Amino acid sequence: MELLLERDTIAPAAASGGERGDWTIDQQWDRYTAQEHLVWKTLYERQASMLAGRACDAFLAGMRALSIGSSGIPDFRRLSELLIRQTGWQVVAVPGLVPDEVFFEHLAKRQFPAGQFIRKPEQLDYLQEPDVFHDVFGHVPLLTNPVIADYLQAYGVAALQAKERGVLALLARVYWYTIEFGLVEQKDGLRLYGAGIVSSYAESLFALDSASPNRIRFRLPRVMQTDYRIDDFQETYFVIRDLDELLALAHTDFAPLYAQVRGLEALQPRAVLPDDVLLNAGTGTYHRARI
Ligand SMILES: [Fe+2]
Repeated sequence: MELLLERDTIAPAAASGGERGDWTIDQQWDRYTAQEHLVWKTLYERQASMLAGRACDAFLAGMRALSIGSSGIPDFRRLSELLIRQTGWQVVAVPGLVPDEVFFEHLAKRQFPAGQFIRKPEQLDYLQEPDVFHDVFGHVPLLTNPVIADYLQAYGVAALQAKERGVLALLARVYWYTIEFGLVEQKDGLRLYGAGIVSSYAESLFALDSASPNRIRFRLPRVMQTDYRIDDFQETYFVIRDLDELLALAHTDFAPLYAQVRGLEALQPRAVLPDDVLLNAGTGTYHRARI
């Protein structure tokens, strides 16, 4: 899990934006240690075997197309060479969390900022900052998909505008409930596409198998109004009918929606509304037991 848009800490190493001014750094792939590659291998093997039949087809196809495997932390230069040919995206290395506007500017330029570092062996299951495993394993495979590629770029552009208007929190919820924690329907069943889920062993199981969370049909104004959990599994997952639904989102004029939603009180993560289409009415058992 990561705190993508709850950025109250920023990597000190590049507090001024680094030498390049855009916070990017060299990945220095040659400098990863054998132990760091082993952490990747451990995480990869655990996720890859479990995600067959759980992650959406587009995610699994992206993994294959980019040859993301168990041999070690991928070299961003190689990933970018392949991605540029497919969807015009690149992966750029950053030291950790970067300021919102820097992150969005990269997205708007079809550059995905990926954490250069990898978690420690004792942090396999929880990490606050996005590392290379979350960013590359979780996000990069779907950048081979033309719909996701366009959606993420459009999100970067829209988020820069939302920040200027003081409504970034509303759009952050859309990112959270799609790119990070989204579920999608396939002909053969419900599947994962959110990077925050597919990069987490425990949440990959919880999001699909547990009776505890709500699974609700995605509606844009509804999602813009809904708070999310940053400290635990989600209490609600929003489900799109197919990835093409995100294409319509990429072309949405958000201005009227901001006007509609900004005055409304935020909905709790667990809230269910009378006009929600519920695919699963969650029992709430998991989160009740955590209080
Ligand atoms: Fe992420």
